[in-house]
Amino acid sequence: MGSRIIGLGMYAPPKELTNEDLEKMVDTSDSWIMERTGIRTRRIAEPGSACSDLCLEAARRALADAGVSPSEIDIIVVGTCTPDMPMPSTACFLQQKIGAGRAFAMDVSAACSGFLYALSTADAMIRAGRGKKALVVGGEILSTVLDFTDRNTCILFGDGAGAVVLSECPEGEGVLSCHLHSDGNLWELIHVPGGGTVHPYGPEVEEKRMHAIRLAGNEVFKQAVTKMAEVSLEALEKNGVSVSDITLVVPHQANLRIINAVGKRLGVPEEKVFVNLERFGNTSAASIPIALTEAREQGRFAKGDLVLLTAFGAGLTWGSALMRM
Ligand code: UT7
Repeated sequence: MGSRIIGLGMYAPPKELTNEDLEKMVDTSDSWIMERTGIRTRRIAEPGSACSDLCLEAARRALADAGVSPSEIDIIVVGTCTPDMPMPSTACFLQQKIGAGRAFAMDVSAACSGFLYALSTADAMIRAGRGKKALVVGGEILSTVLDFTDRNTCILFGDGAGAVVLSECPEGEGVLSCHLHSDGNLWELIHVPGGGTVHPYGPEVEEKRMHAIRLAGNEVFKQAVTKMAEVSLEALEKNGVSVSDITLVVPHQANLRIINAVGKRLGVPEEKVFVNLERFGNTSAASIPIALTEAREQGRFAKGDLVLLTAFGAGLTWGSALMRM
């Protein structure tokens, strides 16, 4: 048995933070941000929102799209690096809010690769017979881990959530393969130093703004291009397909220049690479399911088409998944 996506949904909070808004907050410009990243605006959750609230909206839409009720869900996996609380998992809050009483629920922490890690986990569990239907969600409120005085990071990220419903299917259909990698030696390139056991919340964390993302943008940029191209090829090779067999590549939406460079390395024409980061920025674990939902709305793939997903993020982590839609 394998698993296939039978429902898609996304949610982005209504409040926008545009490049013009950011010009008033830090020393930056719309032209710099557009030129270096391709981002024009991003969505920001209202103060007091929980990550699980965003996940709930996306999950409701995915379940409605699939025609599946919450009580039919066996497995909930949420990819996030901005959970509601350190404990319990955001997936448990989502389970409670959506009323999926029979499911077991857990989070997966792989930053911007979080959705692919969650998808791979749920797919493997369905293959192992641990359930027949899974809710897989990527959700983030990254605005809670941003320093809005740091122009290197605060312009990049946005809030949102995306969800898919996975259902058991015959082997060789749906998710054909998932490929995950990580290299903990490179943890320093993207991290949030404060709030964990190394630097628990307290005056030092507050004073040094250690609650916020630290990013070596340039180094991450190079790693991202190399790793996403490599792991995409790994998925193609594993399944004996070539780039021309792929209808659409849906990459993690971090930076338009990264996406273009990956496309170029793979030899995929631009029209076969989905991009929507201009309107959402980098929503980390939410970016792929948001993009996949919009790609389907726009008719960018049809039933039976091959779609390739690829992502990278803090850890470093990276991965790909090839699926027949
Ligand atoms: O999804 C995983 C997380 N995502 C990422 O890690 C993103 C990966 N990296 C990137 O997207 C890019 O590296 C950035 C967009 C972050 C930066 O672009 P870059 O072309 O790599 O620029 P840079 O870091 O080499 O910086 C160029 C200059 C610097 O000035 P100096 O030192 O050359 O004088 C920065 O201080 O641009 C300056 N700069 C800015 N200027 C205006 C950095 N941020 C800004 C800004 N506005 N917001």
